Amino acid sequence: MKTKLFLFFLLITGIVQAQEKEMDEFINELMSKMTLEEKLGQLNLSYGIGELKVISEDEGPIDFIKQGLIGASGGYEGQKAAVNGSRLGIPLITGVDVIHGYKTTFPIPLAMSCMWDVERIEKMARISAVEASAGGINWTYSPMVDISRDPRWGRVAEGAGEDPYLGSLIAKAYVRGYQGDDLSKENTIMACVKHFALYGAAEAGRDYNTVDMSRIAMFQDYLPPYKAAFDEGAGSAMTSFNVIDMVPATGNKWLMTDLLRDKWGFDGFVVTDYTAINEMIHHGLGDLSTVSVKALKAGVDMDMMGQGYIGTLGKSLKEGKVSQEELDQACRRVLEAKYKLGLFKKPFQYHDKDRAKKYWLCDEHQAFARDLAARSCVLLKNHNELLPLKKEGTIAVIGPLANSKEDMLGTWAATSDTTDIISIVDGIRNVAGESSNVLHARGSYFTEDHFLLNRKRPKEDQLTIDPKKSEKLLTEALETAQKSDVIVAVLGEPRSWSGEASSRANISLPQCQKKLLKLLLETGKPVVLILSNGRPLTLSWENENVDAILETWHAGVQAGNGIADVLFGNYNPAGKLTMTFPREVGQIPIYYNHKRTGRPENDHSIFTSRYLDVSNSPLFPFGYGLSYTTFDYSDIILSKDELIGDDQLVASVTVSNTGDYTGEEVVQLYINDPSASVSRSVKELKAYKKVKLAPGESKKVDFAITPEELKFYNSDLEYDWEPGAFNIYIGTNSSDVKSAQVHWKK
Ligand code: BGC
Repeated sequence: MKTKLFLFFLLITGIVQAQEKEMDEFINELMSKMTLEEKLGQLNLSYGIGELKVISEDEGPIDFIKQGLIGASGGYEGQKAAVNGSRLGIPLITGVDVIHGYKTTFPIPLAMSCMWDVERIEKMARISAVEASAGGINWTYSPMVDISRDPRWGRVAEGAGEDPYLGSLIAKAYVRGYQGDDLSKENTIMACVKHFALYGAAEAGRDYNTVDMSRIAMFQDYLPPYKAAFDEGAGSAMTSFNVIDMVPATGNKWLMTDLLRDKWGFDGFVVTDYTAINEMIHHGLGDLSTVSVKALKAGVDMDMMGQGYIGTLGKSLKEGKVSQEELDQACRRVLEAKYKLGLFKKPFQYHDKDRAKKYWLCDEHQAFARDLAARSCVLLKNHNELLPLKKEGTIAVIGPLANSKEDMLGTWAATSDTTDIISIVDGIRNVAGESSNVLHARGSYFTEDHFLLNRKRPKEDQLTIDPKKSEKLLTEALETAQKSDVIVAVLGEPRSWSGEASSRANISLPQCQKKLLKLLLETGKPVVLILSNGRPLTLSWENENVDAILETWHAGVQAGNGIADVLFGNYNPAGKLTMTFPREVGQIPIYYNHKRTGRPENDHSIFTSRYLDVSNSPLFPFGYGLSYTTFDYSDIILSKDELIGDDQLVASVTVSNTGDYTGEEVVQLYINDPSASVSRSVKELKAYKKVKLAPGESKKVDFAITPEELKFYNSDLEYDWEPGAFNIYIGTNSSDVKSAQVHWKK
């Protein structure tokens, strides 16, 4: 058996080496014919700005493509110009932000992460690739794997939350889904891991703000998802806008070469974020020529939209500021990506009208979008089992997000189809069917705050709120509510409040929406609050006053149907939060895997680490989410409690369904190292398992633990474990856990 495996390994290695040799020979031959301008052209991603004229919006700057001055752009005409109209016929690589679907839009990534389901995320990415690759796209600026502990940051919507372990599994799933097993196939696209690195740690949650972090924190908590995506074979990386150790990532040699390539062995290409080279001028690193040199020397291969490379590197070469080898290396990496995508052999394979017709928004993709919309929901509260609703009586669906279609798409829906989005009220009508009467009223604006309302709008087009109109909206809503048996209030954020450049300092529901909710509660009718938003919100008041709260995020093209499936119990919610929900914005940054302090919060002394006006605990912790049924956890059973060296520990619990519905539970394993050479987090997620249980059913859930799960980065940045005691926690969320202790010797 061993010999067979070894021979198989030799065969595969032999094939890979032969393919690499073929690629090297091809690129050597091609590069021997390229002029300096043509090489610089390969490093230039442009759709036509500044000096470069746009010929047509879709097709990009054709003239420049024909001159070989652009290596990455879009459109069929653009590809024709590159392949048939340029001297060497080098095809374009075409990238776009396919973040949560291409035509079929899935829930926002933060929502999908709450499924704790890597197979479904991989399938979502596969579908996205199948659809995008028919529309001329062969490269996606995804996955976004930035860990963030700050819900003020609007881009948390694009990521997988705060945990590096779960974030790493999800990062890998995206890469597998996009790239498949063969990048040269017509239906696979290249992943671009972003934003390398630490973009999610922007100070005060303000987008594009500075980052300052210890190396241990980087390696322990922030870098793992990027590394995981590269280990999975992601073909490219995108730089982040922020500084790392005071040097912008885009010009940071330690990051882009010493770590990424030399230590981690990444052999793909690196593109800047949008004009990130130029932004180094604002960071105070020099003029365009200087910062372009810095970026190239750091190991950054392609300039996105900034024209720093195409505009200045030729001169820098003549002046000896960069070498021919450095330029050639960047050019080679871009050409290699094109080769791997099969672009030299089949440059038009990604433009396929037949495949587009067959797959875009096809029934299967829509059904999957509906499934994901339901599975991404997190049930935050369900007092007196108000949910699921019965499909009977009169249901009033009220709120500014109740009948909104576009907002369901969430951030990054530039390529989405907007014709057939199912709003929440439509979904409720579809699922409730004939037996109930569904009424709707808008009830309020998203906000009446002038600043928030107009922050993203041009000066000449500012909006004002008509107080009479807002009173009218309220009156209509209350009249509608009075006619109903149950009220479903649909509140939250429009899609433009999350995503890029959309940080909020106040993450509660806006006053006018709260006012509406209060008045609805005053009717005395049962109220279910459906939240549709792109980030964790502060919901202390809502949690105290509303019986049922369902977090549904921005749930995609099938939002309404998927959410209604949950509302009426066609699907029993099983989503678990991947970001902590604070009680108050002043608690931020707040996250479950925090370090200890010398004076932990307690009620016996006033000199402890705490606030005077709120407890330290979050409103809803990481990993939290309810079901229509209830689960009971037994105490933890350990296979042994004294271990040595490479021993394996099995920690088990028995989980029982003690309620009335079949349900799924995400059983979570956390470990804490109470005594080590550096202060360790209070707990860290190390594994999880999903179990599905019928009412009355119990299942034993085993977790195998090895020293691998005990490792951490010490002060010398060595990744190892130290002997001693370890606390093992298993539970339904990061706060509510059973615990046991083991001792592990080296
Ligand atoms: C964003 C990236 C995105 C790029 C291209 C930038 O502003 O930060 O995430 O991929 O634009 O659209």
